[in-house]
Amino acid sequence: MSVSYVAVGWNRQKKIYDAFIAAGCLLYLGIFISLNLVFNAQITAETLIIRATSTLAVLLLHIILSIGPLSRINKMFLPLLYNRRHLGVTMFCIAAIHGIFGILQFHSLGNVNPLVSLFTSNTHYTSWADFPFQALGFFALIIFFLMAITSHDFWLHNLSPKVWKTLHMFVYVAYFLIILHVMLGVIQYETNPAFIILLTIGSTTLITLHLVAGIKEVKADNIKYNLEKNGFVKVCGVDDIQEEKAKMFCIDEERIAVYKTQGKLFAVNNVCKHQNGPIGEGKIVDGCITCPWHGYQYLPNNGCSPPPFKEKLNTYDVMIEGSTVWVNPEPYPEGTERPGAVILYPPKSSLKGGLEKALV
Ligand code: HEM
Ligand code: FES
Repeated sequence: MSVSYVAVGWNRQKKIYDAFIAAGCLLYLGIFISLNLVFNAQITAETLIIRATSTLAVLLLHIILSIGPLSRINKMFLPLLYNRRHLGVTMFCIAAIHGIFGILQFHSLGNVNPLVSLFTSNTHYTSWADFPFQALGFFALIIFFLMAITSHDFWLHNLSPKVWKTLHMFVYVAYFLIILHVMLGVIQYETNPAFIILLTIGSTTLITLHLVAGIKEVKADNIKYNLEKNGFVKVCGVDDIQEEKAKMFCIDEERIAVYKTQGKLFAVNNVCKHQNGPIGEGKIVDGCITCPWHGYQYLPNNGCSPPPFKEKLNTYDVMIEGSTVWVNPEPYPEGTERPGAVILYPPKSSLKGGLEKALV
């Protein structure tokens, strides 16, 4: 959340996350190399490095691309999302080792510059069977490089969230390039169909996860709220919202999170200023609404991040009538103070009538 550069702030959670990444990568490399040494003893050290790192990078890429939809489908996966960029940077470093060894092995022995040779040693750009597939890997690697060097929030703020998000959506272009790189490479180098089978399973899983997560969101967005009164829309019962948590509603295309805290209900825009995370899936921590994705915080009464941070969300009016919650989807400008709707306990259905109506 800081515009001035702050090196990665290591906390216990980040250290555990990174220890898991390191242990997982070492375990994979250990198993891959051992199996190859046993079953493919004549393999050279360079080829072993090229293959161990390429397959690990592709595995990590699938894990990275699964985490987003998985966290939308089930909150259990949220801890994986928190430091996903660490996985991304790790994947880039491992893919870079593969790329560098690929260039050294196949392009550094002639008298042409290896980077030039990468594009000119094979010029069958119009043939599927002989396509210079390494060039595709190179372009994917450039995209991963740009993503890795801009992964810190410093760049998110300086490039603007929109530009940053657009750049990071290029991961799907890179993924497509990698699929082609591997498929076309396998046709030329390998007879073993295992790569193609595994990649097909991987991409089918990714597409399915994205579809399931997308359908879930579209369903939530399309719930109709008909009961309207003075611009307010009936959304749920007071008891439906847990203490220090929220419920989310999409009304007239406005995504709204209604939080229950300090004996009141407050409504803020549900889209986090960091990377569009679902604010309403978070909870109140230290009196602040805390985004579940990477922990950005906002005050419930005005949607502003606590100083020195400057992010601001739109706020909305909430009303409680009996035990029913009403929300006005007309947004106030970002950072506008709203007093919230006071909950008169016990809020159960015993409070019928409107006596305790509290708009505010
Ligand atoms: C400068 C960039 C790259 C170059 C020069 C390059 C080169 C190569 C070469 C020569 C092969 C065939 C190796 C063999 O089977 O002996 C290969 C295969 C492969 N590459 Fe790349 N590659 C690059 C980038 C990437 C990236 C970014 C990824 C994934 C993130 C990747 C993933 C793979 C995979 C999965 C295979 C098939 C397994 C293998 O044979 O190693 N490559 N690449
Ligand atoms: S999306 Fe990153 S903190 Fe909200």
